[in-house]
Amino acid sequence: MRKKIVAGNWKMNKTLAEGTELAKTVNRLVEENDVTVVLCTPFIHLSEVNKIITKDSLFLGAQNCASEASGAYTGEVSAQMIRSAGADYVIIGHSERRSCFREDDSLLNKKVKLALENDLIPIFCCGEILKERQAGKHIQVVKTQIENGLFDLTTEDFSKIVIAYEPVWAIGTGVNATAEQAQEMHKIIRGLITDRYGHQIADNTPILYGGSCKPSNAKELFANPDVDGGLIGGASLTSSDFMGIVYAFKEI
Ligand code: PGA
Repeated sequence: MRKKIVAGNWKMNKTLAEGTELAKTVNRLVEENDVTVVLCTPFIHLSEVNKIITKDSLFLGAQNCASEASGAYTGEVSAQMIRSAGADYVIIGHSERRSCFREDDSLLNKKVKLALENDLIPIFCCGEILKERQAGKHIQVVKTQIENGLFDLTTEDFSKIVIAYEPVWAIGTGVNATAEQAQEMHKIIRGLITDRYGHQIADNTPILYGGSCKPSNAKELFANPDVDGGLIGGASLTSSDFMGIVYAFKEI
């Protein structure tokens, strides 16, 4: 059975004091069951939040990593540093990185490989913008992002990947993809993985949905056969909303 994962992406929110407070509450409320919960914090929160985590099902993640291993890259944070701060996961290719920081597929491919070399699990994001969906190009867009970002990995490396499908038009807008839209794309993604790496790997790859996921729609989204959890932005900033999403799995 593949992993169920709910990952919170705090983005550029929370002071250190606020972040550690939130992490403490989440750590207290997380239940030791089959749902993996990940807190993807700003870099400077990582080691403090790492000290707070005591639950076996709660993990630490970063939101990005550098595309180079080390050296003269002022302001960057390497995969090795992230690992050394106690993280197990790293988000790569979030749409805000792709659009605000012009990160393209080949750069993201380098980041994925550095993450894997440093024992971090990449949560690789993909998703179309509204214009692409309206033009009927969404499937091709996501296919290209996944092929270019991930499909030169060895089978062993790919087997560690988590994918997050995040339609850009749903991120932070309050308009989530419908359960049907999410399931359709997740099934297509799993089909691509099957064609490239075979059934067993595809069956074991967690594919998360992201984009205005909240306690009120999480159950409907997560109940789909190819939706294995969520990458949560806004609703991960309060423990009640975030845990409401984590607990949605109990009702399925
Ligand atoms: P949102 O963001 O939940 O605020 O829509 C999701 C994300 O960007 O990962």
